[in-house]
Amino acid sequence: MDPKINDALNGQIKEEFYSSYLYLSMAAYLESLGLKGFARWMEMQAKEELEHAMKIYKFVVDRGGRVRLFDIQQPPVEWESPLKVFEEALKHEQYITSKINGLMSLAREAGDYATEIFLQWFVTEQIEEEASVGEVVEKLTLVKDSPNGLFMIDRELGMRQ
Ligand SMILES: [Fe+2]
Ligand SMILES: [Fe+2]
Repeated sequence: MDPKINDALNGQIKEEFYSSYLYLSMAAYLESLGLKGFARWMEMQAKEELEHAMKIYKFVVDRGGRVRLFDIQQPPVEWESPLKVFEEALKHEQYITSKINGLMSLAREAGDYATEIFLQWFVTEQIEEEASVGEVVEKLTLVKDSPNGLFMIDRELGMRQ
């Protein structure tokens, strides 16, 4: 496997682990507000990010590359409000999308079709990720500071399977 692509994939493994770390920290913040449904939703998001990391890990191993695990930075602990949490999550997903696109360009330039096809799953997944987080941002923006509205969204998000 091309060392440049191997390195970039290792970098993406770290990004996915950091995403998980960030979302788990967001879940803990939401728990501290007593918003169990929001917290559960974020917890599930955190678990999905671990799966993304492992998907890339397995791919690197299967292709005979070498996995190198980088430091994972400490995520923030506090936010101003649930809305700020989801706005930041959306921004983070947009950042991840740009990283995936960068990887895709790299694979194309190197003529690495296997990596390109592998990354297609992530390109599609990012559309889903941005849409689902964006939906929560819209709902939270709509209810503003209404405790009733917040309670209703909390109940809905808590039903995520
Ligand atoms: Fe991810
Ligand atoms: Fe994600």
